[in-house]
Amino acid sequence: MALNRLSLFVAALAAASQWVSAATVPSSTSQTASVETAAAFSNKHKCPTGQTTSNPICCKLFPIVDQIQKDLFDGGECGEEAHSALRLTFHDAIGFSIHGGKGGGADGSILAFNKTELAYHANGGIDDIVERQFPVFLETGLTAGDFVHLAGAIGTANCPGAPRLDYFFGRPAPKAAAPDLTVPEPTDSVTKILARMADAGFSAAELVALLSSHSIAAADVVDPSIPGTPFDSTVDTFDTQVFLEVLLKGTAFPGKGNVSHPGEVLSPIAGEMRLQSDAAIARDSRTACLWQDMIDNQQAMMSRFKAAMSKMQVLGQHGLTDCSDVIPTPKPFKGHITFPPTFSQKNVQVACKSSPFPKLKTVAGPAPTVAPVPGS
Ligand code: HEM
Ligand SMILES: *[C@@H]1O[C@H](CO)[C@@H](O)[C@H](O)[C@H]1NC(C)=O
Ligand SMILES: *[C@@H]1O[C@H](CO)[C@@H](O)[C@H](O)[C@H]1NC(C)=O
Repeated sequence: MALNRLSLFVAALAAASQWVSAATVPSSTSQTASVETAAAFSNKHKCPTGQTTSNPICCKLFPIVDQIQKDLFDGGECGEEAHSALRLTFHDAIGFSIHGGKGGGADGSILAFNKTELAYHANGGIDDIVERQFPVFLETGLTAGDFVHLAGAIGTANCPGAPRLDYFFGRPAPKAAAPDLTVPEPTDSVTKILARMADAGFSAAELVALLSSHSIAAADVVDPSIPGTPFDSTVDTFDTQVFLEVLLKGTAFPGKGNVSHPGEVLSPIAGEMRLQSDAAIARDSRTACLWQDMIDNQQAMMSRFKAAMSKMQVLGQHGLTDCSDVIPTPKPFKGHITFPPTFSQKNVQVACKSSPFPKLKTVAGPAPTVAPVPGS
């Protein structure tokens, strides 16, 4: 009788889903194996907590997501912690080379071996988020890699306009600290940055896609006298504004007395910081058209960033489970980006000759001053 019910179930499932071909339903394995195959295809596992996931393994993550929102992100904000949680995923994962010998990739070594990795120059300012994450990491019982990349995806989801990032689950504990000099510095040349990213498996297009993250970014240590200085005028929104503002002609440094620091170049707006690396990548012939193509191209930016982040969070990892459905859905960014008040096309340093610059409106009003990110 049990066998009859099972056969009926498998047959009904195969009939209902065109893509379950006869070949994918094992014919000579045990009943249990058939049931598991059928359940995996159903894509509708209901967890004890009420949510739905494609894989029951992911159920344990729903309460952890709530806990991370409460204990790390002030109940779901796109604030300082969310921004730095995203940055942390990069500084963790990029400790990797496709040729080997540069760390375990997206393994959480930046948390577990914090004493070693936080001493690296490129990890300046990362100590704050490691300190904030460490106790929450211990509470959740996840491995360091699963935690860092889960927190990054959740923090990003708190920012309107962000794509809903994928999340892959099941990383083992990291084995060792990543070596020094894997994380690009803002003082590096475009050639050096492209070479480092290529060594980790990323193209120039993927680098530009990843730099969408600087839409929700601020600097604490480039100029330590003005912590929390944003890279664009909409630091709470994951939009394409940063790609526009990095191309505006720079006029001053944001610090008191118009003084410059290594890694920054002249910025166009009071209270805004422009990284030397962003400025150079926006203007370099190898990357300028990729950069310009992001401007006011919200959907393309979202899908390119999501794809590159998916790749980044599994660097050095194998056999992970897709638990993307535990990640909250971000609020959308609707409409178009604009020139900040008093700016227009005449302030743009166009660097891509092969395609027209997008037409944007200017917001009315006096020249803005960008406020620092609270809590920085
Ligand atoms: C060319 C490569 C990159 C360079 C040179 C670079 C450099 C920097 C620098 C200097 C800061 C400011 C640090 C501080 O003073 O506190 C920063 C912030 C940030 N970066 Fe990058 N970055 C790069 C790529 C990335 C990537 C690939 C991501 C993520 C996918 C990322 C995410 C962020 C975020 C979210 C912040 C803001 C952190 C906060 O506001 O607390 N960056 N980056
Ligand atoms: C760094 O990791 C150690 C465990 O190796 C932990 O005790 C410590 O709290 C961590 N430091 C920070 C700043 O979180
Ligand atoms: C700030 O300093 C730079 C040179 O370091 C200069 O080119 C620029 O005009 C100055 N801006 C203001 C507003 O003083």
